[in-house]
Amino acid sequence: MKVDVLLGLQWGDEGKGKVVDVLAPQYDIVSRFQGGPNAGHTIIFDNKKFVLHTIPSGIFYKDIINVIGNGVIIDPYSLMQEIDNLNKEGFEVKQNLKISRRAHLILPSHRVLDAFYEQQKGKNKIGSTLKGIGPTYTDKVSRNGMRAGDILTSDFEQTYKNVKERHLRIFDAYHFDYRSVKIDGLNFEEYEKRWFESAERLRTFTLINSEYFLNEQIKGGKSILAEGAQGSMLDIEFGTYPYVTSSNTTIGGVSTGLGIAPRKIDKVFGVFKAYTTRVGNGPFPTELFDDDGEKMRKTGQEFGATTGRPRRCGWLDLVALRYAVMLNGVTDLFMMKADVLSNFNALQLAKKYSIRGEITSEFPVHSEEVTPQYEKVEGWNAGLENVSNKESLPQELLHYIQEIEAFVDVNIKMLSVGPQRNQIIYLD
Ligand code: GDP
Ligand code: IMO
Ligand code: MG
Repeated sequence: MKVDVLLGLQWGDEGKGKVVDVLAPQYDIVSRFQGGPNAGHTIIFDNKKFVLHTIPSGIFYKDIINVIGNGVIIDPYSLMQEIDNLNKEGFEVKQNLKISRRAHLILPSHRVLDAFYEQQKGKNKIGSTLKGIGPTYTDKVSRNGMRAGDILTSDFEQTYKNVKERHLRIFDAYHFDYRSVKIDGLNFEEYEKRWFESAERLRTFTLINSEYFLNEQIKGGKSILAEGAQGSMLDIEFGTYPYVTSSNTTIGGVSTGLGIAPRKIDKVFGVFKAYTTRVGNGPFPTELFDDDGEKMRKTGQEFGATTGRPRRCGWLDLVALRYAVMLNGVTDLFMMKADVLSNFNALQLAKKYSIRGEITSEFPVHSEEVTPQYEKVEGWNAGLENVSNKESLPQELLHYIQEIEAFVDVNIKMLSVGPQRNQIIYLD
């Protein structure tokens, strides 16, 4: 029996996909527990790049079962597109993918609602990926949603109609022409048609009571890696609300999103970048608006895997990192993209914030008001391409690692120095 969890500790895009892909062979099952197609997890091997949105990152291994858990929300059209792309590259998805019947469905009208709510917010817009995440989780919580298992029932179309008509009444009330919104470049009717075709296809997949399946597997001695999406600072409870996503990206999401009891969880792997990025709006205390930020974006190719938007970049924020480590009970840290900082003479680490003249090392409720207090450390100013073990790492990088470990009180187990599977250095 073994359930380990891997999750992002910043604002998403930490490199979770790469690490899951690397660790997957040690597990029997990889399972997503929250989020939906707002996620974009990049995996690169054999000179090919894949971006997964809803499918767990263990899909490239034939004998690993991949489970989309009940806490995930699914857009059938987006999921089928993802499956078709993988099929084209020679990966047979159907036989090792299982989908929870309890997972909620993103309807075309959820996508339009997402766009509508963002438009309503004007300059305060979240910067959503517009995949329908907020409205779908809202319908789930307000008990108006639709689940994957509904596809298997005879009144599936009626259930769809009821949910959609409720949405149309909202548009009516606001005199909003829902047909004016294009979804993935398609008009509403066209998207809806494809959505239904995809829902039909979804019926032919293995829809299961995943909470039973996973618990039986645990009992039978199988091991599970739970794969988080987004990051702790985008958590609906603990993130920079309201600039967050609509699910629990932190550890509690594993229990509610898979039906796995907390006491069955063993290791908690926390993934973070050697610096910080954020895509979309909202507080970002250590954000850089100068050449250093531009250098990180360029070197790190910091453009969104789902939307292509440039990611905002900044120094490593240890106040936020320690907060995320605490919330999740992280046991092992994985530091990603160390290679991106190779050309800096000096680096800054935020260890405190000042808020209206007061100094704190706690992440506050209103983080837009903080000014980070930095400690300067020396950069390593050396490429890491040819480094394959801890002994050959530059002293300055080892010092950077020690500073982080001492501050958050958890060890960094693995260092990533490039996007490829093998660009990894184990530290203990
Ligand atoms: P995820 O959402 O957490 O899975 O992360 P994304 O895939 O959205 O973004 C991470 C990006 O960084 C991807 O383009 C990866 O290929 C890339 N990447 C991952 N690890 C490293 C690394 O150590 N160095 C560099 N340069 N790129 C990396
Ligand atoms: P992965 O799994 C980075 C951000 C969006 C926006 C906010 C709300 O690849 O790390 P939503 O579409 O959920 O309503 O958007 O959250 N966001 C992400 N940022 N990585 C992600 O996923 C994200 N998923 C959502 O940019 O600011
Ligand atoms: Mg991503």
